[in-house]
Amino acid sequence: MTRDQHGLPLNLHMVDLFAGPGGLDVAAQWLGVAVDGIEWDGNACATRFAADLQTQQGDVRQFNPKKFPDARILTGGPPCQTYTVAGSGVGRRAMNEVLTAAESMASGKDVTDVFTNLDERTGLVLEPLRWVLEAHRDGAPYDALVLEQVPAVLPVWRAVRDVLRDIGYSCECEILRTEQFGVPQTRRRAILIARRNAEARMPVPTHRQYRRGVPRDEGDKSLLPWKTMGEALDRATPFTVISNYGTGGNPKLRGRRRSDEPAATVTGKISRNRVQTADGNIERFSLPEAGMLQTFPSDYPWSGSDIAQQIGNAIPPRLAVHVLASALGRTIDAGSLDDAVTRSWADAKAGAPLVRSTAMSAGSAESPAGS
Ligand SMILES: C[S@@+](CC[C@H](N)C(=O)[O-])C[C@H]1O[C@@H](n2cnc3c(N)ncnc32)[C@H](O)[C@@H]1O
Repeated sequence: MTRDQHGLPLNLHMVDLFAGPGGLDVAAQWLGVAVDGIEWDGNACATRFAADLQTQQGDVRQFNPKKFPDARILTGGPPCQTYTVAGSGVGRRAMNEVLTAAESMASGKDVTDVFTNLDERTGLVLEPLRWVLEAHRDGAPYDALVLEQVPAVLPVWRAVRDVLRDIGYSCECEILRTEQFGVPQTRRRAILIARRNAEARMPVPTHRQYRRGVPRDEGDKSLLPWKTMGEALDRATPFTVISNYGTGGNPKLRGRRRSDEPAATVTGKISRNRVQTADGNIERFSLPEAGMLQTFPSDYPWSGSDIAQQIGNAIPPRLAVHVLASALGRTIDAGSLDDAVTRSWADAKAGAPLVRSTAMSAGSAESPAGS
């Protein structure tokens, strides 16, 4: 296999576990990385097929690394329902169970036993670790790894990080804020990046953090201002989004965001939010608009049912491209990324990679967009 100076194969290929409708695939397409996605949900697969994404429809647990011999990069966003109730007894029990299981896996116990002892949904979060350990034992370790989930999963990623370091990876995990990477939305994700032949580094924010009431041009001048909903959507007039939820359950305290601010976290319930236009009309976001707030292309072929849920489950491709580039030891060119995000999916699929990237020099951090 021909490799570049960082030990990565020239034709990059990744396997994406729990691939959903394709948040990571879109980022990979922009970067010119080939993807095999594993996903079992018929609706998410309908979108994947319509988007022409390479897909194995089935249960991740029925597959293993040997089936994807060309993939040297492993990525995954396992389902998270058990941990999103982290404050509750169920969430805490699930967390303890999974942290103990990660330790058992690290000590070289038969991984199959570990998984049969776990609650089904709890165990899925450790599937990527099973894949890494199997590939390692088979003498074909992955070169790079990216995992993403809701912030409550960070303790699991720390446990995975410790296991990966023990088997020779450089690994970091952290919570990243989407608006700090040019996504017109505030959302926090727990991200893990690991590399086998080089130092793993988290991507450096390119945009300022959003703080309610603080103007977007205030703050660190080396960073760009956060992106707004108005910039991302093709709407004729300003608008205000009124959340369906009130703070502390009080409907009078419903969250509001103006079109000159980033969107609140896009969830599967986005269509319940009211979009009040300047002339007082009440509208809803369309599904393509919800996708665009997640930085999917405007013509992304959302298909099947439960589309809002598919959109809410995904990692924003614009965050994913930063994370993936870091895992590959690349810095990305801000201008070409801005261009890629506004291109149609048809264009993105048509030809060469849309985002230019260059290898990170040994001592450098990733440069902010526009710098
Ligand atoms: C958080 S979403 C991942 C989203 C994806 N990273 C993206 O950006 O589009 C988790 C996905 O895992 C899928 N899933 C859950 N359990 C699975 C299993 N055992 N095998 C395959 N897919 C599964 C769900 O249907 C869902 O689409």
